[in-house]
Amino acid sequence: MGDGRLLESLAQRDVNSLYVGIELDKEQCRLAQSRITLSNVVILCGSFEDILLTFPDGSVDRFIAVLPDPRFIDEKKENSWKPFYKAVYSKLKFGGTLELVTEMTDELLQPVSDEAYMKWATELKASFTSIGFDLMDQREGAPAQYSSRCLDQFRGDPERVRMATLELAKR
Ligand SMILES: C[S@@+](CC[C@H](N)C(=O)[O-])C[C@H]1O[C@@H](n2cnc3c(N)ncnc32)[C@H](O)[C@@H]1O
Repeated sequence: MGDGRLLESLAQRDVNSLYVGIELDKEQCRLAQSRITLSNVVILCGSFEDILLTFPDGSVDRFIAVLPDPRFIDEKKENSWKPFYKAVYSKLKFGGTLELVTEMTDELLQPVSDEAYMKWATELKASFTSIGFDLMDQREGAPAQYSSRCLDQFRGDPERVRMATLELAKR
């Protein structure tokens, strides 16, 4: 959740749902805890992979992963992160969803070509459907209504940092 800004705005607009923010970095956690006073928000400081295991299988309506650390999405590290999203899948209810917003950059930090973007987006889709997710929607960019520290930073350099949003469901 980073500093929890997006978490707070989502929870404010949906008071009947419980939002759980997860963040490894203690300082980001402290910032979020000191600012967010909503009764429908719980903040858990720790690693997502450990905390995920504490949720019962089939218990979660929706995961929102906005710009996960490259360790959890980099195409070259797929073998190490795929088991993690398999665990995400198992924690979802049937009909539950994972919204993933992620980004790609050129290794030399040149503008990302349409061809490279399309190749990456196709591989991303293939990775998640091979886990079992149904792809409901995939589009370029991040949801316009979302704002976070990293999203705002990446939006400032749209040719070098190209984002994609995937809406994935457990059927
Ligand atoms: C690129 S930032 C995005 C943060 C936020 N979603 C945003 O858009 O501003 C990635 C975040 O993931 C956190 N992180 C990295 N590894 C993690 C892990 N294993 N468990 C939980 N959070 C982790 C980092 O501390 C960092 O705040």
